[in-house]
Amino acid sequence: MLGRIISNTVHAEISMIDSRRILFTGGSGLLGREFRKILPDILYPSHREFDVCNLQQMQSYLKDKDVSTMFHAAAFTSPPKVDKEPQNAIDANILGTSNVVKLCMQRGLRLIYISTDYVFKGDKGNYKEDDSVHPVNKYAWSKLGGECAVQMYENSVIIRTSFGPNEFPYDKAFVDQWTSRESVSVIASMMLEVLDSDYRGVIHVGGDRKTVYEYAKKLSPSKMIGELRASDVPFSVPKDTSLDVELYRTIFRYGQKISGKDR
Ligand SMILES: NC(=O)c1ccc[n+]([C@@H]2O[C@H](COP(=O)([O-])OP(=O)(O)OC[C@H]3O[C@@H](n4cnc5c(N)ncnc54)[C@H](OP(=O)(O)O)[C@@H]3O)[C@@H](O)[C@H]2O)c1
Repeated sequence: MLGRIISNTVHAEISMIDSRRILFTGGSGLLGREFRKILPDILYPSHREFDVCNLQQMQSYLKDKDVSTMFHAAAFTSPPKVDKEPQNAIDANILGTSNVVKLCMQRGLRLIYISTDYVFKGDKGNYKEDDSVHPVNKYAWSKLGGECAVQMYENSVIIRTSFGPNEFPYDKAFVDQWTSRESVSVIASMMLEVLDSDYRGVIHVGGDRKTVYEYAKKLSPSKMIGELRASDVPFSVPKDTSLDVELYRTIFRYGQKISGKDR
């Protein structure tokens, strides 16, 4: 069992699923490494053992296993690399996710797909789950391509989010870019609440709206972090991809832990 009872849930029921029946794709990545700390018993097959581009290999891997939930975090995640190698992003993020959806359909597995705040244009912020999507780069298009396949399967969740390492990794941060980003440890704990519920549909997971600079200072208060503006860099920076996370807070009441507000 995940071993924690979620209190104060409004719409979601407690499922108390057995962590040994969860398979996590992308277990060697940033999010996967965080999950391994919290839930070491989950199945974390490597990319080589469980390549999402190889449906047959995934089918045989699952043959002798009693998996009930697929947590799909594997992806080709670097936007600049995706710009250079779009075919690899089509394979991993669109065709790979479509394979994962087919596998879940065939075996009746619950699917949790990790998507991104970058599916939004970034011109208004506070995006709700049913706001129009409009990716502005190829990485985001490929993640939206994955969302399309997941949308065709009812027994699924699409989590849109933004996270980064537990220490801010750069020397400068944007003062004119807004986000709901939180550290990977905070976001992983929030995702756990979704995993340990029977929620289905799209859900936004993140913290309060803030600039990337404010996020960086909160994360690494003693680090010297310089100010950066969108006009300082040669690439385009989405101005505001912050997410409206009220649905999450209403269901899971986690807002108190992120913002300290009494909601
Ligand atoms: N980091 C963020 O800021 C952020 C924000 C929003 C959403 N997301 C989404 O969250 C998820 C996790 O992100 P992350 O930052 O943890 O990613 P990451 O550190 O780049 O890790 C990606 C993982 O996917 C695996 N992978 C890539 N192609 C694969 C394939 N064909 N088959 C199986 N595994 C494959 C990689 O394995 P190898 O390394 O062995 O190739 C690695 O374990 C992704 O879906 C990403 O789009 C990330």
